[in-house]
Amino acid sequence: LAIASLSRAPLVGNLLEFRRDRLALFARLRAECGDLGAFHLGPRRLVVVSSPELAHEVLVAQADAFEKGPTLRRFARPLLGDGLLSVDNARHRRNRRLVAPAFTPRTIAHHVALMADEAERSAARLLAAGAAGRVVDLADECTQLTLAIIGRSLFSFDLSQDAAAARAALETVQRHIDGILRGFVPLPAWLPTRANRTLARALGQLDALIGRLVAERRRGGPKDAPDDLLSALVFSRDADGEFLDDRQIRDEAMTLFVAGHETTAFALAWTFHLLLDHPDVGGELDRELETVLGGRAPGWDDLPKLPYTLQVLSEAMRLYPPGHTPGRVAARDVILGGERLPKGTLVLVSIWLLHRRADLWPEPERFMPARFVDERALPRHAYLPFSAGPRNCIGARLALAEMQIALAVLRQRTRLSRASAAPVEPEMLVTLRPRGGLPVRVSRYGV
Ligand code: HEM
Repeated sequence: LAIASLSRAPLVGNLLEFRRDRLALFARLRAECGDLGAFHLGPRRLVVVSSPELAHEVLVAQADAFEKGPTLRRFARPLLGDGLLSVDNARHRRNRRLVAPAFTPRTIAHHVALMADEAERSAARLLAAGAAGRVVDLADECTQLTLAIIGRSLFSFDLSQDAAAARAALETVQRHIDGILRGFVPLPAWLPTRANRTLARALGQLDALIGRLVAERRRGGPKDAPDDLLSALVFSRDADGEFLDDRQIRDEAMTLFVAGHETTAFALAWTFHLLLDHPDVGGELDRELETVLGGRAPGWDDLPKLPYTLQVLSEAMRLYPPGHTPGRVAARDVILGGERLPKGTLVLVSIWLLHRRADLWPEPERFMPARFVDERALPRHAYLPFSAGPRNCIGARLALAEMQIALAVLRQRTRLSRASAAPVEPEMLVTLRPRGGLPVRVSRYGV
């Protein structure tokens, strides 16, 4: 086979390097193998693409030749079941149509007030920590914020108040998935290890909780139901009048919960990280916020009036795409870049490499929000923070609105400074996160 493979050790292949430093492995792969290369985890070959054309082939043009990869299909299955993120192509189209009503602009607009509300709470938490002289992990704070937002927009649930148990259960599940990806070779879920027992208990709690909520919604009927994503799922019908059954609602709700909070949290955290090093960008951002908002939180109608705020977020997601490596498995033999990939081949699309190519992005390492002044002038198929094709991110618009609001509010209330001189490095787990968090000190804006 003609696809170049990265040099590797016998038996383990590139496993040790993969565990130690995935970023370095991907960089070496691109340098040694180009647009289409491969590395090995033990006997398993993983093909990596990092050109706009090949990414487009895998995600869009030949999307029906690829299913989701084993991380989602196998390891995340106890949690996500057949939700949108992990369901096979055959069932995906119908389910996507049924979930889509949860993401219309009208539904998103409805959530703007609670997003602003939670962002204000987050600012208050940060300021309280600042006043007490405490160092805050901003990545953690952003996670609290997005968790609170998804909790309310999905379930009309106040996670900070009445759902401490749900939150703890979700964190258990999240840690378990991280653990799986860190180790990469997971222990079978049926082994009665302590970790597996804890996971089973957490999943049981979440299932019971969602089951209860769904039952309440059905009993109350659509008129009395809160206008949230769960109602959209419970009352959604497709053209044939079919709706999602309880199991499907549970899987979709869990999927939205998992897909919807950590990605957004880390995109925000990276944005603040970049702003800490770029006072010029911060200054321009402040001017836009001052002119348009003058200190208030943005409403839905304000969002189009905050183009620079959006450019800052877009550029942050270019440099640090939270969904850094969508994975697929060839469902049949496929021709990709002139090479034949046998059925079963694992293919990774490296958004990380794509977003940092010097031939597409002049001075790729530099943080320059002005790149996004005119989105139509971007290199084709080269900017994919939300992936592309039929399996692209259904939550993109919601995420962008949420981040615009959070950035606008936090920026107008707080000033952050670094609490540690240690360099902040990205770690590739489920999402691209700052390794060891993002320690900051907080003071009040304008003081
Ligand atoms: C900055 C924030 C976000 C980023 C960077 C992001 C990124 C992504 C990416 C890259 C994918 C595609 C994965 C693949 O091709 O394998 C995806 C899919 C998905 N995302 Fe997001 N996402 C974000 C926020 C959200 C939010 C807020 C929600 C929901 C509330 C959400 C729900 C989903 C779902 C359900 C899918 C699967 C869609 C399908 O296959 O039909 N995401 N996301």
